[in-house]
Amino acid sequence: MKNLVILISGGGSNMAAIVLAAQRDDWAGRYQARVAAVISNRPNAKGLALAQAQGLATAVVDHQSFASHTDPRGAFDAALMTEIDQHQPALVVLAGFMRILTPGFVAHYEGRLVNIHPSLLPAFTGLHTHQRAIDEGCRFAGATVHRVTAELDHGEILAQAVVPVLPDDTADSLSARVLTQEHLMYPQAVAQLLAAMSAA
Ligand code: GAR
Repeated sequence: MKNLVILISGGGSNMAAIVLAAQRDDWAGRYQARVAAVISNRPNAKGLALAQAQGLATAVVDHQSFASHTDPRGAFDAALMTEIDQHQPALVVLAGFMRILTPGFVAHYEGRLVNIHPSLLPAFTGLHTHQRAIDEGCRFAGATVHRVTAELDHGEILAQAVVPVLPDDTADSLSARVLTQEHLMYPQAVAQLLAAMSAA
């Protein structure tokens, strides 16, 4: 059985969409894959309760508890890797995980690490993507599923979803429209990766 580990920081709606797709589309039977654990860097992430309600293993590696360390980012990533590797994941899925990862972390999971970003990459890497798309007068916005490399929000593009930017849009209304598409796209993109792994 191939294990997926999903990393979250907040609401976890993309995580929930993947968990539901795994159940609905019988990923265990089709791809010999299952969601093994959901891990958050924030103890109060709402997605943790959603995952627990689905009977999934959850864990918290709180980045704030590494603040006094000489290398806070490296120490956090090392602790996170230890937690993730207990599940021997075939795929580590970043789903609203709002931490910049060290090159060592990214190298450790090379070929097994994917992310969803709320813009049409390569446009609008980083934060506040929806407001920036509105401010730039973009007529279309969207989201991208991509492999993770050491460079933030770069890496091979695996899937993209496009939505219109409407004249009265706020960052919130645009975000909600994009998120609806994320919930369709991310499970499909993960399923495609699993299918490719099964075929290899
Ligand atoms: C999603 O829109 C995702 O694309 C974005 O955070 C949201 C998480 O929502 N990710 C990033 O901004 C990563 N840089 P969710 O917690 O409800 O899935």
